[in-house]
Amino acid sequence: MKQNKKLWGGRFTEPTSGITEKISASIHYDARLYGQDIRGSIAHAKMLKKAGILSATELESIISGLGQIQKEIEAGSFRFDASLEDIHMNIEACLTERIGEAGKKLHTARSRNDQIALDLRLYLKDESKEIQIKLKELTLLLVNIAEDNLDIVMPGYTHMQIAQPVRFSQHILVYAQQLLRDLTRLENASLACGSMPLGAGALAGVNYLTDREFLSNELGFSDITHNSMDTVSDRDFILDFLYFASVLGMHFSRLCEELILWSTSEFEFIRLSDKVTTGSSIMPQKRNPDVAELVRGKTGRLYGNLLSLLTMLKGIPLTYNRDLQEDKEPLFDSVDTVRMAIEGIHEMLSSMKINKEKMLSSVFRNFSTAVDLADYLVKKGVPFRESHEIIGSIVQYCEKNNADFFKLSIDILKDFSKHFSDDAIEKLDPTSSPERKESSGSTSKSEIIKQIEHIKSSLDKCHSKN
Ligand code: ARG
Repeated sequence: MKQNKKLWGGRFTEPTSGITEKISASIHYDARLYGQDIRGSIAHAKMLKKAGILSATELESIISGLGQIQKEIEAGSFRFDASLEDIHMNIEACLTERIGEAGKKLHTARSRNDQIALDLRLYLKDESKEIQIKLKELTLLLVNIAEDNLDIVMPGYTHMQIAQPVRFSQHILVYAQQLLRDLTRLENASLACGSMPLGAGALAGVNYLTDREFLSNELGFSDITHNSMDTVSDRDFILDFLYFASVLGMHFSRLCEELILWSTSEFEFIRLSDKVTTGSSIMPQKRNPDVAELVRGKTGRLYGNLLSLLTMLKGIPLTYNRDLQEDKEPLFDSVDTVRMAIEGIHEMLSSMKINKEKMLSSVFRNFSTAVDLADYLVKKGVPFRESHEIIGSIVQYCEKNNADFFKLSIDILKDFSKHFSDDAIEKLDPTSSPERKESSGSTSKSEIIKQIEHIKSSLDKCHSKN
């Protein structure tokens, strides 16, 4: 009489329609969870043995059957079947086909609802660890670039207008500071995956005295989840990761934007290597910064993935609903995008050439030391507002008479204020301007060295706690 061959087909009299299979299938993307799914099943089987539900021989054949399946998946010889919907049922069906009875017992005291909650947490913990390593390497690369180029002075900008001279290192370390904050966000996202969900069952818990603490230890968690209904409904830990990925993407996009600008013939502050640029099919002279543009462009999908999951979650009643299956594609896409972007940026930064001369010559522009001159007068007792006004008039004078601000003579300065004396001239020099900064966190050499030490020690302290 039975018409439906699915693992759950007992109560069905008709076969599933083609479109239902198509809509339900997730195996084409969730197959990547095979490692976590198998790890979870082995721990679950060990717990079932402990609880007296599986015999030692059954446990043994489950473990070796799953090991065999893992090898085949890794070798590419495993045949996934879309009619089995997802990774959980593909593995379970194959296991049962191979080892018989014992395979059928594996799903005791478990539901796919707590199983997927487990797989996703394990997956994110694994990925977070690897992404953390790569991000730390990238941060260190930025620090090395800053350390190797401490003496380069360049224009600092506000409103995209030359504002004050800064050290190139200070500019580059901004990106290291951003990454340090990204690393904290990543760590928090990883901590959000820290509670072990198995034992929640479909939603209400299970009718067996499962040893959740044992499972938690076995799978490397620091805690267990505390509400079975919350456990199968919660995807906050994925949102946390997607938020981390969005902010990281925004930081990367800003960095790429600068690499693009700096490599234009208008700026010429850097030259990106041939390894990360591409040619034009019509203009033979072109070298386009495509890697930077694409990483900048990919930020859109990182934001989109976060928004897509937030939107998917907002109307779902408790507890598990199949909508939740739609969490995976945005997650996987963000993981892949983040990994690709980190690698692309690493490649661009490690191979770029810095044009020290061009940076330096650009700093002799737009009255970049006007504040230094104003502060000179302040230190001679002129109130700042008054001094600001005086320097403003000097700027106006230069513009009107086409005079070079950086080469003004002391006689001219004295026409604007009696407080100027010979030592004022050196304040006009942009190359020594960064060293005049006295505040902590400023662009003076000693402060940058302190900053570098601080970043290095923060990186040393940053370990994945999960
Ligand atoms: N593939 C499903 C998902 O990703 C697994 C859970 C399905 N549970 C169910 N009762 N249909 O969410």
